[in-house]
Amino acid sequence: MDPTPRIKLAIQKSGRLTDNSLDLLARCGLKYSRARDQLLCFGENMPLDVLLVRDDDIPDLVQEDVCELGIVGLNVVEEKRLGLAARGTTPLFEQVMTLDYGRCRMSIAVPEEFAYSGPASLEGLRIATTYPNILARWLAGQGVRAGVVTLSGAVEIAPRLGRADVICDLVSTGSTLAANHLTEVETVMESQAVLIRTPVPVAAGKQDWMDKLLKRMDGVQQVKESKYIMLHAPRSALPQIAGLLPGSEHPTIVPLEGTDEKVAVHAVCRENVFWETLERLKAAGASAILVLPVEKMLP
Ligand code: PRP
Ligand code: ZN
Repeated sequence: MDPTPRIKLAIQKSGRLTDNSLDLLARCGLKYSRARDQLLCFGENMPLDVLLVRDDDIPDLVQEDVCELGIVGLNVVEEKRLGLAARGTTPLFEQVMTLDYGRCRMSIAVPEEFAYSGPASLEGLRIATTYPNILARWLAGQGVRAGVVTLSGAVEIAPRLGRADVICDLVSTGSTLAANHLTEVETVMESQAVLIRTPVPVAAGKQDWMDKLLKRMDGVQQVKESKYIMLHAPRSALPQIAGLLPGSEHPTIVPLEGTDEKVAVHAVCRENVFWETLERLKAAGASAILVLPVEKMLP
């Protein structure tokens, strides 16, 4: 008999998405051993292999059907999509879900002494970037004609080296820009981690595991911020209290022994519950308020 075919998932080798991606997989129940070369995580309890690669290669690996799944920044996916479209090639990767990490933005940044007064200031300049297609689309949308200098890395030093006048690059904390005396002036796009998959049908044995994995990922995403809240409340205050519970649909109302006026309310809140909410609940008549983290959820 054939061994179960293994699913291949590509993630970033070393960078801002790596730890969060491995953590997400662990939360989906994956136990893995990491190969000595650090480039592969072998799933021990699922037929899943995680390939650790350069993030820019991830859409290609799915495009070429080397991997069925990939986790990568939306900026990388979008750049690849535009590049393929320009060549008349159909992208063979679909975005399945946005993941709750890796938030950053792609921005135009200019040297500190640059007198910037809007996109028109970029007319005729040279802009260094690793994302020429996204930048070109933005420039066209702004009606600005500028030269795009495509670099494979170290974009932030291009102005100092005289290779470009300004840059277009990812900004997360802003410390790279600050260290290079650059000022952020325009947001070109917002980005975060996304899960992509091949549109090509996969073998039945793989498909079952893929469905299971996608459902678990979805579940993990949903519980991230979710809290289980329990409290006691006067019946008369229930409508007001229900209105205060963030993102909860159908609270469970439980009678309390020895009283008709008061009930217990249990609810799953799809958003984090802050102190302010607890204080408002209390003011509305709630007591014995308890907020618990949600470990797993399978809707
Ligand atoms: C980006 C970008 C900057 C840095 C900005 O690189 O090219 O170097 O992050 O982050 P900061 O605002 O927190 O300083 P990325 O991590 O995406 O690496 P890569 O371009 O090599 O994939
Ligand atoms: Zn990269």
